Amino acid sequence: MRFDIITLFPAIFDGYLTQSLLDKAIQRELVHIHRHDLRDWAEDTPHRKVDDRPFGGGPGMLIQVKTTVNCAESVEAMDSRKARKILLTPQGKRFDQRMAEDLATEERVMLLCGRYEGFDQRVIDILEPEEISIGDFVLNGGEVAAMVIVDAVVRLLPGVLGDENSNIEDSFSRGNRLLEFPQYTRPREFRGHAVPEVLLNGDHKAIAAWREQQSLERTEQRRSDLLPDHNTNK
Ligand code: ADE
Repeated sequence: MRFDIITLFPAIFDGYLTQSLLDKAIQRELVHIHRHDLRDWAEDTPHRKVDDRPFGGGPGMLIQVKTTVNCAESVEAMDSRKARKILLTPQGKRFDQRMAEDLATEERVMLLCGRYEGFDQRVIDILEPEEISIGDFVLNGGEVAAMVIVDAVVRLLPGVLGDENSNIEDSFSRGNRLLEFPQYTRPREFRGHAVPEVLLNGDHKAIAAWREQQSLERTEQRRSDLLPDHNTNK
């Protein structure tokens, strides 16, 4: 799978792409992540300006349409595979595990990261990207949101996680709509906090029942909206 990330700040991704799971997936060529500096398509050399004031007034600056469309089109042409285009914005559809699973089936995804007050609307009208938000809060730009998407998608690609099944039981994955149960490792006791007895006796049926109960209780307490009989009109 190939990601093309269009951003004014490609270096933001440096540490993230060179650590742990992402680094391994890249080294093993399970995923290819290309960053493109939008400023490389700016016309106004030597200042390489990419933004301008909004028509009609208002605070802040907008990223200009011509630079962005030229950039996206030349990035698209860098590979014969057609890219599914996503623009990160708080105005977008809320990202979730289902979308991550859907994106993990794509051969190529282009991520457009906004800054300032966002893009000129014609970027959206011309490129027709899907607009995606990672939550109801405003970030300083789309880069962190792009990392969230790459992270959620890459761990679903075949061969990325050591144990092929280890994401099937994740909270929010297709087969599981409950939050995860609590887990413990050694020592058995720390500062008076003991590991629940049921986990220590090797009774796998009892352990499974306890975990299911814990998942259900957590979900009821924290995220009752995830339960199948949840009534949104309540
Ligand atoms: N850019 C700024 N805020 C964002 C958010 N919540 N999701 C996606 N992109 C963003």
